[in-house]
Amino acid sequence: MDFPQSVRLVEVSPRDGLQNESEPIDTATKLELIDRLGAAGIRHIEAASFVSPKWVPQMADHREVMNGLERRNDVTYSALTPNLKGLEAALECGVKEVAVFGAASETFSQKNINCSVAESLERFAPVLERAKDVGVRVRGYVSCVLGCPYEGEIAPAKVAEVSKALYAMGCYEVSLGDTIGTGTPLKAKRMLEAVAREIPMDKLAAHFHDTYGQAIVNLYAVLEEGVAVIDSSVAGLGGCPYAKGASGNVASEDVIYLLDGLGIESGIDLDLLAETGDWITQTIRRPNRSKVSVALAAR
Ligand code: HMG
Ligand code: MG
Repeated sequence: MDFPQSVRLVEVSPRDGLQNESEPIDTATKLELIDRLGAAGIRHIEAASFVSPKWVPQMADHREVMNGLERRNDVTYSALTPNLKGLEAALECGVKEVAVFGAASETFSQKNINCSVAESLERFAPVLERAKDVGVRVRGYVSCVLGCPYEGEIAPAKVAEVSKALYAMGCYEVSLGDTIGTGTPLKAKRMLEAVAREIPMDKLAAHFHDTYGQAIVNLYAVLEEGVAVIDSSVAGLGGCPYAKGASGNVASEDVIYLLDGLGIESGIDLDLLAETGDWITQTIRRPNRSKVSVALAAR
């Protein structure tokens, strides 16, 4: 398979990137981050998460974020909604796209959303029905596709099974999450091949974390297989509060540098993105994990 001609980047820093930060980040900073990402040419931004504030305090201002956005016409601002309660709140804020999030690991599912994988699918079904009724698109996530912090190895067949269920339920796209970043390229390819036997490749996204420094090489491997949607987080911000040891998402700057080098279109301005990565890491006093950003700043 050849590389795709263009890739759609789903920028998850306002949600996945910030959800694990222990110090409160003010809403104005989140809104400025989202605005800067849009200005850099990103067309899909995961802006907030309508989850329980007791579970993820950093996302407690989801309403303020969604209501405070200066929306650009060509940008999709999505939000996580684990259940109907989250969806209804998101709809009140005018959200046009939401995401449900399941897992290929039973233990992770329990720790993250307090129910089994089968129960999670039962909870998602009414979310998809309601979203369909009101014309809202739903994305599906599967976590732990290349390893689980509690169970270790995860069978590709299990990833395929959960992905297929989400797709059959009506998710327009399924994002495959290497939540703890333990994947390596051949493993990533094998997992993807198992899922792509059930779901068309153009309905799949790669959501890789960079805990072991493998995210870029794993992305290269799945790009070769034809994946054309990549989730990433500016400055490599990120981590999951319910996945011990999960460090940042793959850095958006590093992804764009890779895509530019391969001649794959993304429509994203690398310099503006790198500036945004420098700005947010200085603002929240975190190191910038993007090697590309650090190299550009040193020129
Ligand atoms: P639960 O305790 O089983 O839910 O939590 P419940 O229905 O029994 O409700 C308990 C309380 O939560 C009640 O409040 C509800 O009102 C409230 P109380 O009466 O105790 O005051 N509640 C809510 N509040 C706000 N928004 C809601 C909501 N639902 C219930 N939507 C629940 C179940 C799913 C809510 C909980 O487990 C939760 O919020 N989990 C969030 C976990 C999370 O956000 N994890 C990080 C995102 S996933 C991720 O990062 C992975 C990903 O990036 C991909 C990858 O990397 O692999 C996507
Ligand atoms: Mg993630």
